[in-house]
Amino acid sequence: MASQNLQSVPAELSPEELEREQAGQAYFDRIISEDSRIEPRDWMPEAYRKTLLRQISQHAHSEIIGMQPEANWISRAPSLKRKAILMAKVQDEAGHGLYLYSAAETLGQSRDKMTSDLIAGKARYSSIFNYPAISWADMGAIGWLVDGAAICNQVPLCRASYGPYGRAMVRICKEESFHQRQGFEILLELSNGTPAQKQMAQDAVNRWYAPALMMFGPPDDDSPNSKQSMAWNIKRFSNDELRSRFVGMMVEQVKVLGLTLPDKDIRFNEETKKWEHGPLDWNEFKNVLAGKGPCNAQRLERRREAHDDGAWVREAAAEYARKQAEKEYAA
Ligand SMILES: [Fe+2]
Ligand SMILES: [Fe+2]
Repeated sequence: MASQNLQSVPAELSPEELEREQAGQAYFDRIISEDSRIEPRDWMPEAYRKTLLRQISQHAHSEIIGMQPEANWISRAPSLKRKAILMAKVQDEAGHGLYLYSAAETLGQSRDKMTSDLIAGKARYSSIFNYPAISWADMGAIGWLVDGAAICNQVPLCRASYGPYGRAMVRICKEESFHQRQGFEILLELSNGTPAQKQMAQDAVNRWYAPALMMFGPPDDDSPNSKQSMAWNIKRFSNDELRSRFVGMMVEQVKVLGLTLPDKDIRFNEETKKWEHGPLDWNEFKNVLAGKGPCNAQRLERRREAHDDGAWVREAAAEYARKQAEKEYAA
């Protein structure tokens, strides 16, 4: 593979530095062309590091903010069993956030900085979590559609060229499968319940379907960074390709649920061998990303409160670490 990022090498390098940079770039290019892994201490182009840092930190923020719509329902779950399952799921999402913050830290940014960017409203997270969860059936639709879309997106990321990200994704994907199953099962039970329960399930699917499809990001012709991410083996499939696969999976599963997808344009294109879906409202997507979704302000406010409430935990942990270090030093 040709050196694609020498333009990121700063000017005015000494001959030795330049030689080191060139050797680093050659090593990086070889690793990428062999579809092997870059590790934190390896040389990497600055643009690669920045792209990953942005992607992994946004992913971490999404896991953490994504706890909120479901956490709201833990105390209202219809049975002890449902409560335990939902609590375990929300805790898993916290764990995903933590793995991902750790992976992002290996790229040279502290978790404190990422958190302060999030609560200052400077960082992005997945637009899906700015929609409200208004009924119990939403727990089913979120698990089935939102975690389902996350799996489609994330399974290929297990092979991402950056080692810590790929390894974090392996574990996360295992847990996401359980999340999708529990969502599916909630919907199945409601669908087989009373007419009102079935209607509640259908209504939740109707509301979460389009936002879930938009989780794959803008259409390929409006996604300028995708090509570079694919050349770096971070991303393996385009947004539209993943979205089409997802529609193909859901179209079969919804039959088992006895429900329908709110999209009369879904069809399998025999020529392209791809699933197609109806138009999506990309203006809505951009508005929600820009902070104008139904719950953006509430989600950030809640995150700020949780951060403030957790101040004593951070202080206690820092003090404990200080004492441990003192003991070790004295020993
Ligand atoms: Fe997750
Ligand atoms: Fe999940």
